[in-house]
Amino acid sequence: MSSYVTKKTPGDTAWFTRDRFGMFIHWGLYAMPARHEWIKTREMISEEHYDKYFKYFNPDLYDARDWARQAKAAGMKYAVFTTKHHEGFCMWDSAYTDYKCTNTPAGRDLVREYVDAFRAEGLRVGFYYSLIDWHHPEFPIDMLHPRREDADAYEQSKDRDVKKYAEYMRNQVTELLTNYGKIDILWFDFSYSGDKGKGDKSWMKGKGKDDWESEKLIALARELQPGVIIDNRTEIEQDIFTPEQFQPVEWVRHKETGELVNWEACQTFSGSWGYYRDEQTWKSPEMLIRMLVNTVAIGGNLLMNVGPTSRGYLDYRAEEALKVYADWMKYHSRAIYGCTQAEPEFTAPADCRFTQSADGKRLYIHLFAYPFAHLQIPGLGGKVDYAQFLNDGSELRFSDGKLEHFGEALPEQENLLVIYLPPVKPNTIVPVIELFLK
Ligand code: GLC
Repeated sequence: MSSYVTKKTPGDTAWFTRDRFGMFIHWGLYAMPARHEWIKTREMISEEHYDKYFKYFNPDLYDARDWARQAKAAGMKYAVFTTKHHEGFCMWDSAYTDYKCTNTPAGRDLVREYVDAFRAEGLRVGFYYSLIDWHHPEFPIDMLHPRREDADAYEQSKDRDVKKYAEYMRNQVTELLTNYGKIDILWFDFSYSGDKGKGDKSWMKGKGKDDWESEKLIALARELQPGVIIDNRTEIEQDIFTPEQFQPVEWVRHKETGELVNWEACQTFSGSWGYYRDEQTWKSPEMLIRMLVNTVAIGGNLLMNVGPTSRGYLDYRAEEALKVYADWMKYHSRAIYGCTQAEPEFTAPADCRFTQSADGKRLYIHLFAYPFAHLQIPGLGGKVDYAQFLNDGSELRFSDGKLEHFGEALPEQENLLVIYLPPVKPNTIVPVIELFLK
C-alpha cells in the first residue's frame, strides 16, 4: 500500500484520488465576446452592451453528449461545469433570477443537459459556482467589479446588502444540489478578502467568508450532498487545494501543519478559461501529457479546461488537444488511474517520472526523453519481477547489478537495474515502462 497519507477531510475523496483526471468546462455569455471570461470587468463593459450577449445567446450546436464522449475518450473521469461564472449568468433554470439561459434564445436548461450526458457516459458530475457576481443587484461593487470606476454606481451600491446576496447563493446552491441528482464536486470560486482597490480606491475591500457566509453555505451543501467534494476557495478549508495556472513541483502540503493534502491542479489548453478566439498560446501535445504525468507523479489530480464556443461546440483546437489525451490514455491510463507518487525509496532517473499503483505492486516509468539502448536506475536492482512497455505489452529485458556485455567498462553496482530498450521509441509521445515489482 502507498505510504502517503493525506489530511482527513469531510468529503468522499476516495474516488477522486483514484480517478485523477477531469474536465473543467467554462461556458457562459463570455463565449460570445470570445476574449476571456473576465471580459466584462477587464473592459468595464456597460450593462447595456453586455445585455446584447444575453439577448443573442443561442448555442444551437450544443450537444452535451458529444462533449461527454470526448471527455471520456480523453480518459477524463469527471467534469466540473460552470453553472454560473463571475458575470452572474446562470446556465440553469433558476427560480431566483431572470438572468438565466432559459430566458435567452437558448431556451433550455444547459446544466441539465450536461448532467444527463456526462452521467450517461459514466463520468462523475461537478458544479462550479462563482461566489463573485457582477450582475446581482445586492452584490456590493468592489475593485474587481465592472462598475468600479463609476462613482454614481458605487455610491448607490452602498445600499447593497451582501447578506441578501449570500442568501441568494444558498438558494441557488440548494437548487443545484437538489434538482440534479448526486453531485460529486462543488467548486466555489473565489475569495479575495485581503485585496484592496488601487490608488485612490485603496479603501475598497475584497470579499471572503464573512461576505459569502461560507460556514452556512458549506453546512447547507453538506446537508444536501453529504459526500460532495468541496474546494477551498470559500476561505474555509474543505477537501481539496486547487493550484491554478502553475504546476506544483512536489506534493502539496498544508501550510500550517505540513500534512499532505488532496490537491487538483486546474489548467487550460490555452491562456484563457472561457473561449478566446484569438488567443494563441495553445499548449503542445508533449506539454499536455507531461502536465498530467507530472501531476500524478506528485500525488495530484489534473482538471483540464475546455472553453466551448457560444454556439455550443468545442473549437477544433480544443478537440485536437483532447485527442492528444485520448491517444495517449488509450494505452497508458493504467499508469494514471489508481496511481500516485512512487514510494520515497524510488527515485526517478534523469528525464523520467515515476508513478506507482496505490497497492504498490506496479511502478511506471514515464520517459520524457527516450534514451539510447539502456535505462539505468539505481535502487531498483533485484526488485523487479517483470518489465514491459505499457503501450503494447511487449517484454523488456532487464538485468540486475550490471550492464550486460559491457561489464568491464562499468563497475558492477549493487541495486542497479538496467532495462534494455529498442533503438526506436514507441509511437507515442511519452512511452511508459511498466515494472511488476517482486
Ligand atoms: C479563477 C478565475 C477564473 C477561473 C478559475 C478557475 O480564479 O477567476 O476565471 O474560473 O480561476 O480556476
